[in-house]
Amino acid sequence: MRCRHCSNSTVLINDFGSMPVANSFRNQLDEDLFRFDLKTSFCEFCNLFQIIDNPKVEQMFHDSYPFFTSTSKSMVNHFSKFFEEFKPPSKEDSFVVEIGSNDGSLLVQAKNQGFHHLGVDPSGNVVERAKSCGINSICEFFSEKLAKEIKSKHGEANRIFAANVICHIPDLHDLARGIKDLLAQDGLFVFEEPYLGSMLEKISYDQIYDEHIYIFSGLSVQTVFAEYGLQLVDLQEQTTHGGSMRYVMAHQGTTTPSKEMLRILDREKNQGLNSVETYLRFARECEKRRSQLRELLFGLAAEGKRIAGYGATSKSTTILNYCNIGNEIIEYFCDTTPEKQGKFTPGSHIPVISREEAQERLPDYFILFAWNHAEEIMRYESNKMPSSVAWINIIPKLEILSSS
Ligand code: TYD
Repeated sequence: MRCRHCSNSTVLINDFGSMPVANSFRNQLDEDLFRFDLKTSFCEFCNLFQIIDNPKVEQMFHDSYPFFTSTSKSMVNHFSKFFEEFKPPSKEDSFVVEIGSNDGSLLVQAKNQGFHHLGVDPSGNVVERAKSCGINSICEFFSEKLAKEIKSKHGEANRIFAANVICHIPDLHDLARGIKDLLAQDGLFVFEEPYLGSMLEKISYDQIYDEHIYIFSGLSVQTVFAEYGLQLVDLQEQTTHGGSMRYVMAHQGTTTPSKEMLRILDREKNQGLNSVETYLRFARECEKRRSQLRELLFGLAAEGKRIAGYGATSKSTTILNYCNIGNEIIEYFCDTTPEKQGKFTPGSHIPVISREEAQERLPDYFILFAWNHAEEIMRYESNKMPSSVAWINIIPKLEILSSS
């Protein structure tokens, strides 16, 4: 197993077994389901935590991609603040690009404030949604070649933004060359992603699925982009997606690195994010979590309890397939995304219904698979969910909480 980035040998960390594409919700149970082996490895040379095999990108991002950023109000709010903090100082002659712009939840701010902008996303349906809101978007995979085309048409970008997308891009060399070429000399490349430090702390192994080819840390991002003259200059911790990190990058030598960045990099070393032992310990913890969850759910099912899932997240695909839990244990999932409703979860074959439908057949237990939106969900449910329904939290620790 060679590192996807530096080609040195890596160490096998997790083996989650055969796994479908996390967002491959199906209309019929008998439809063919593509599977691949979900395994992770760690590279001691560039500190990259990565999955070993991934499906072709076209299998993950396409015209029926069911994820719309705007389904979460708190994420829309988060992106509005993100733009305010990092927008170029002046509208004149500035150009803002977003990689993986989805339905335009971030770029809507650029549009509303009159910035020249362009979103790039490979999933046609989300791009159409963005365009229908007046956000300039193109349906393409970002690449060095595309970066050159964008530059020749629109000029250099003063800001390149990305949220929860850089970890989706297998070829980091091509990406870094594209950024290097498109970014103005005094520009900033700002991206955020689920953070490796948080995943290790919470044992949130559900962050590992086909789309997340890498789970980054400050240490790995610093190494990967330095090779192309892009310097990490700041790190900002975020609470989104269960613990994310925002990485701020600039052309080498143009910006002084922040003290906070140096502090976080030191902390990462102290936490052992550069040591293979840390990851092997994580793998053992994942196995423990698997046994605990199976024991709890099979026990409740044996008592005749009815269990449902709340939030048909990509993350839940890893948990259910790794733990081998299906529709014999979980009766249904409720989810607000219309594109998922009426379909079945990948591999675990659990029907997805709306929250309104769930109201008619409330279970004894709801497992909170969308744990990263716990605050928003609990705010919404606090006076709707009857006390007869209990919540099962899975991350950061398995626990049963009563509704009242
Ligand atoms: P998300 O957390 O973005 O997870 P992933 O990246 O793992 O897919 O997805 C959240 C899912 O939960 C999405 O399908 C919408 C659903 N959801 C609800 O059903 N109710 C809610 O209140 C929220 C915030 C999300």
